Amino acid sequence: MDQIKKKLLEKGEKECAVVKRLISEFGNVVVESVNIDQILTGMKGMTSLLTVTSKLDPENGIRYRGYSIQELQDKLPKTSPDGEPLPEGLFLLMLLGELPTLEQTQSLSKEWFERSHVPDHVKKVLDAMPLEAKPMTQFSTAIISMATDSLFQKAHRAGISKNDYWDTTYEDVMNLIARLPVVAAYIYRRTFKDGTFIEPDPKLDWAANFAHMMGYDDEEIYRLFRMYMCIHADHEGGNVSAHATHLVGTALSNPYYSYAAGMLGLAGPLHGYANQEVMFWIYEMIKVIGDSDDKEEIRTQIEAYVRKTISEGKVIPGYGHAVLRVTDPRFTAQQQFAEKYVADDKLINIVNMLYDIVPPILKSLGKVKNPWPNVDAFSGALLQHYGISEYFFYTVMFGVSRALGVLAQLIWDRMYNLPLERPSSETLEWFKEKAGI
Ligand SMILES: CC(C)(COP(=O)(O)OP(=O)(O)OC[C@H]1O[C@@H](n2cnc3c(N)ncnc32)[C@H](O)[C@@H]1OP(=O)(O)O)[C@@H](O)C(=O)NCCC(=O)NCCS
Repeated sequence: MDQIKKKLLEKGEKECAVVKRLISEFGNVVVESVNIDQILTGMKGMTSLLTVTSKLDPENGIRYRGYSIQELQDKLPKTSPDGEPLPEGLFLLMLLGELPTLEQTQSLSKEWFERSHVPDHVKKVLDAMPLEAKPMTQFSTAIISMATDSLFQKAHRAGISKNDYWDTTYEDVMNLIARLPVVAAYIYRRTFKDGTFIEPDPKLDWAANFAHMMGYDDEEIYRLFRMYMCIHADHEGGNVSAHATHLVGTALSNPYYSYAAGMLGLAGPLHGYANQEVMFWIYEMIKVIGDSDDKEEIRTQIEAYVRKTISEGKVIPGYGHAVLRVTDPRFTAQQQFAEKYVADDKLINIVNMLYDIVPPILKSLGKVKNPWPNVDAFSGALLQHYGISEYFFYTVMFGVSRALGVLAQLIWDRMYNLPLERPSSETLEWFKEKAGI
């Protein structure tokens, strides 16, 4: 058994005993009560999931196994001291709960490279789709088409014990994560470039290889990809992509189906598609506000555009969050990356100006719980700066990164043998009766 699996099993045996005990001995402990508004407004703040990979603090942002993004910039292994942490290290941290060494991290880079071969039929499935098919449509189709290789599904059919489900889930997850950059880059090149494909480079790590296969070869872009892949990787269990992956996984659907379900959720405008919406909205705004060099004039115009968007009953994309109540640290990480590497960029300047203008306007509405920017408010401008201008593709990049967290968690779901998820629903009559109306 390889080292990662060995550690996983050691940890898993101990933690499974705790989960079993919580259910059998402490199953009746009341942890919190549930209000009508929680049920009718998207179950926000209602604890209903066990997620070990990360926890989202409304005031401090995401913590992967207890570490903030800022802390991980120092603590996770990097290939150069002034560079960005490798997402492979983050995956190991989320999976095993311990900070990995550089050697362990680089060994995982090598392993993912070795597992990265995408079956020919997947490319044929993609080639059969029109070039106008949205990248997320292509991406989710490609993921489902890889399910032909699911080792979990084969083992389940063969009747293995449920105590061993985690093992083939782990194998599927490792293969799937290894292949995702290849699949995503294939979609990018066929949709937006000339349809020529670039082979992965065995000397590069997972994120740098993704950039390389998309056609971007520069150490600064590799760093951008490493950072991007780390900050989008997980946001505890209740967000749509994580929850959908988990929910479908509890039906014992194979990891390819489970993750594809998560990606279909990520494709929604209130979730991962927001990174496209931000760009679309900014470009529409630029058409209206024009190209003046007068900063005050531009500011006034932007303010008017923000107010107009709200008055039309639309949201400001990239702002607000279901859990966060502060500026998203993932926004800040990207802002800091731009400060470090980008001298002057028109779009980034606009994003920074919006950061000044939008929160007071949203606050003044009196109903927006979080007027601050989220991760999607910055990512597009940064990618544009480095020449990746095809914003329809941005949600695919988000999706490749999100695999790290939701699939590490899926392994734990199977390790704990979490049962089928099946909450109750009630009729309107029931709610009226409860409310006494
Ligand atoms: C993320 C989001 C879906 C969270 O939704 P939520 O938890 O229901 O948000 P709130 O509880 O703050 O919503 C309360 C009200 O404020 C409004 N609101 C929230 N964010 C807003 C925004 N960015 N612009 C304008 N209005 C906003 C809501 O539409 C709602 O209005 P309503 O009562 O008239 O329906 C929401 O903030 C949003 O739509 N943001 C823009 C899309 C986005 O950036 N998504 C990516 C998230 S990472």
